[in-house]
Amino acid sequence: METNKGFVVWFTGLSGAGKTTLAMKLYEKFIAYGLKVEILDGDTVREDLTKDLGYSKEDRDENIRRVGYVAKLLSKNGIITIASFISPYKKHRLELRKEINNFIEVYVDTPIEICEKRDIKGMYSKAKQGKIKNFTGVSDPYEEPENPEIKISGAHYEEIEYLINKIIEYLLEKKYLI
Ligand code: ADX
Repeated sequence: METNKGFVVWFTGLSGAGKTTLAMKLYEKFIAYGLKVEILDGDTVREDLTKDLGYSKEDRDENIRRVGYVAKLLSKNGIITIASFISPYKKHRLELRKEINNFIEVYVDTPIEICEKRDIKGMYSKAKQGKIKNFTGVSDPYEEPENPEIKISGAHYEEIEYLINKIIEYLLEKKYLI
């Protein structure tokens, strides 16, 4: 498998929806295929490139803007870029789409009840107690994508391998991968 153009696979969805797991697995798959790939994930990027930012609408905007800039540079140079951010605002995702040539939006549509129940980082319970402000899905909005290239509804019950194959099939069908 190879590619003759860079592209960006952008995962959006609630905290705990499964974005990072999917992104990591896809990354490993691309590496195994010998493809040039880079990964940008909210949890790690926020410890570095966007360390100075919080979770207000303005700060999330700036977070996504900076990451979008990096993703654009990487993909322009033929490097497959996987990004995984809540990216809750339509406007911000639309700007990414305008800026980046080959932008593939993957909506990880896991029901909030499931994310809350799992609560991997214990953040939903803190948010509900008001200990974390502006928490997406609890006290801050998540604007659902209307026309994502790919929608994943079963991240909480499907085999990850099956879901990754679904993404790869799309990339092959659209000739991002050949
Ligand atoms: S985004 O909205 O700017 O796209 P991003 O994906 O970078 O968010 O970061 C989300 C991660 O930050 C969550 O997975 C969670 O671990 C942490 N986090 C801390 N505070 C918040 C908050 N108020 N809302 C959402 N996520 C938060």
